[in-house]
Amino acid sequence: MFQVALMKFKELSDGRGNLTAIEGGADIPFDIKRVYYITRVQEDVVRGMHSHIKLHQVLICLNGSVKVKVFNGEEYEIHTLDRADIGLYIGPAVWREMHDFSEQSVLMVLASEYYDEKDYIRDYNEYLKQAKIYFD
Ligand code: TYD
Repeated sequence: MFQVALMKFKELSDGRGNLTAIEGGADIPFDIKRVYYITRVQEDVVRGMHSHIKLHQVLICLNGSVKVKVFNGEEYEIHTLDRADIGLYIGPAVWREMHDFSEQSVLMVLASEYYDEKDYIRDYNEYLKQAKIYFD
């Protein structure tokens, strides 16, 4: 099973612009403990290159665009995020790489846990072993 899903959030539009609200546990399947955002990434940079043991995240590109490659140890998908009302849910044990950040892109991430370096798997070979255990 691929622990990745695109999510559409409701966008309220009127003559004043757009508003999107995201409620933890309601619009996304976890309580939000942490929010961070990535800005001013040069276009040749690849970020991510890791998976998480327990963490659930939703990635939302608030401005510009970014591509996200997700891999479960066997198959990969590439998603282009370029709308503030679309989120990419990524569950545990999924390797992710964010690339092709457009100029002025803003990638916001909602996370289910506080930052914990021990929750990261940054070694690709170690990831392949863990993915086999997790998804088999
Ligand atoms: P990292 O997760 O490697 O970024 P990315 O996956 O986007 O390439 O984090 C980069 C640095 O920021 C690393 O030193 C850890 C730190 N960091 C925090 O202190 N808190 C956080 O919530 C996150 C996500 C990273």
